[in-house]
Amino acid sequence: MKEQNDVLVPLHYKRLKRGPQVILPKDIGIIIAYTGVNKNSVCVDAGTGSGWLAGSLALVTKHVTSYDIRDDFLKIAEKNRELLQLDNLALKKGDVTKRIDEKEVDLVTLDMPDSDKAVKNAHRALKKGGHIVGYLPHMEQVRAFVSALGKLRFEDVLVVEVIARDILVREQGTRPSTKGVWHTGYLAFGTRS
Ligand SMILES: C[S@@+](CC[C@H](N)C(=O)[O-])C[C@H]1O[C@@H](n2cnc3c(N)ncnc32)[C@H](O)[C@@H]1O
Repeated sequence: MKEQNDVLVPLHYKRLKRGPQVILPKDIGIIIAYTGVNKNSVCVDAGTGSGWLAGSLALVTKHVTSYDIRDDFLKIAEKNRELLQLDNLALKKGDVTKRIDEKEVDLVTLDMPDSDKAVKNAHRALKKGGHIVGYLPHMEQVRAFVSALGKLRFEDVLVVEVIARDILVREQGTRPSTKGVWHTGYLAFGTRS
């Protein structure tokens, strides 16, 4: 049997280029489901990286602005933006710990080493009731991020890890595979009060 990332990844992900580590579909799905973003939503994302999350959000929302500090990664993301033909995805060079220009947005997603340092600017960009999501590979980042959310009185703070196990179905028995994608990142959610 094949593994989840060989078979169940939608075609558009298979065509996309990869630079730095991307957010995988299992985590992207829950970001979209838990924040409830839809065709009317306006989003800000950082860092762009390969643009996998930014592109996925643009496929289901009204508009996404995605920031990165590196030109080389913005170039990879631009290729992916063209592949997916996304006119509603704006790629912008900028450090979100210093500034986010957009206002009254529905969602800010942060996937970068110092996400906690961008929470203040994310708070300014979000509308009341808007959501913030940190994608955080390490527990130490989770602590710093949740503490930053607390200082700005974000509500409904929730941290989850998504584990999707491959199940082997064979003549000799059915059981979880011993291989597969294990840890990717923790997801920390909050709502602007
Ligand atoms: C792991 S990658 C993001 C991957 C992306 N979420 C995806 O799904 O393809 C992290 C990115 O954050 C960018 N970055 C780091 N610090 C930043 C900052 N302060 N502002 C904006 N981007 C930043 C890096 O250049 C890098 O491209």
